[in-house]
Amino acid sequence: MDRYAVIGNPIAHSKSPRIHALFAAQTAQALSYEALLGPLGAFAATVDAFRAAGGRGLNVTVPFKLDAFTYATRRTPRAEAAGAVNTLAFGPDEVLGDNTDGAGLLRDITVNLGCPLTERRVLLLGAGGAARGSLLPLLLTEPARLVVANRSSAKAVALAAEFARLPSCAVAVKLEGCGFADLAGAQFDVVINATSASLGDAAPDLPAGLYAPGSLAYDMMYGKGDTPFLAAARAQGAGRLADGLGMLVEQAAESFALWRGVRPDTAPVLAALRAG
Ligand code: ATR
Repeated sequence: MDRYAVIGNPIAHSKSPRIHALFAAQTAQALSYEALLGPLGAFAATVDAFRAAGGRGLNVTVPFKLDAFTYATRRTPRAEAAGAVNTLAFGPDEVLGDNTDGAGLLRDITVNLGCPLTERRVLLLGAGGAARGSLLPLLLTEPARLVVANRSSAKAVALAAEFARLPSCAVAVKLEGCGFADLAGAQFDVVINATSASLGDAAPDLPAGLYAPGSLAYDMMYGKGDTPFLAAARAQGAGRLADGLGMLVEQAAESFALWRGVRPDTAPVLAALRAG
């Protein structure tokens, strides 16, 4: 049986084994998928051993996405733009590194939530790995305006400048970087939280009035009930709220499709996860 796994540290609470088992059952693919605890500082050795034992592919999560980027012998353009790899596919002659996080985010917002981004005003909060990973796919949807805002504004300014220089950003998207306070007076149709603030049980400190009527507040994080960001967005008048569970399922589907050549139907899998 073909072997796959998710590697991370910690990894015990990962939902990926359950998601991929549901995908495999639904598409009648004979495969196994496990959770692999990667010892810190020994990513390459752990992956080598997994491949030697018949591993065909890996999902990669915190803190190994940069190690996976280096491990890959070939990378997709979206992995290059993200500067990180969350999916490895082991072929006879190469190790392909991909990044399906941004595509998963976009699919969740545009397909599952039915919220098109084209011509809309989009705000991306954060300038770390999660924000970087979603910038290229966001730009390619051609929003009317895309603002990257970060607690330390210099990082957002630098990130926006870097992506504005990419040839694939020749599209006429207005891409700007700034600090949170600089957002005062602006309004957005979609606000995406790519900060790790929720991990510390905090919400980014944003000026009031950001949410246009009917706007979507989207948190890449998820948990039981509203995340701190979603609770704040609700209080500030966001029209719709969504957490990142759909993104998790969609990035998994994208990895599954890369490995197996079959795209699973994500709706029943997301419903199963929501049911507990
Ligand atoms: P990730 O890979 O999850 O993006 P990261 O690269 O460590 O993690 O980046 C964390 C992001 O969350 C950064 O943009 C960080 O802002 P700073 O660059 O100003 O540190 C942001 N962040 C973390 N805690 C935050 C908080 N309480 N409020 C606002 N932003 C926060």
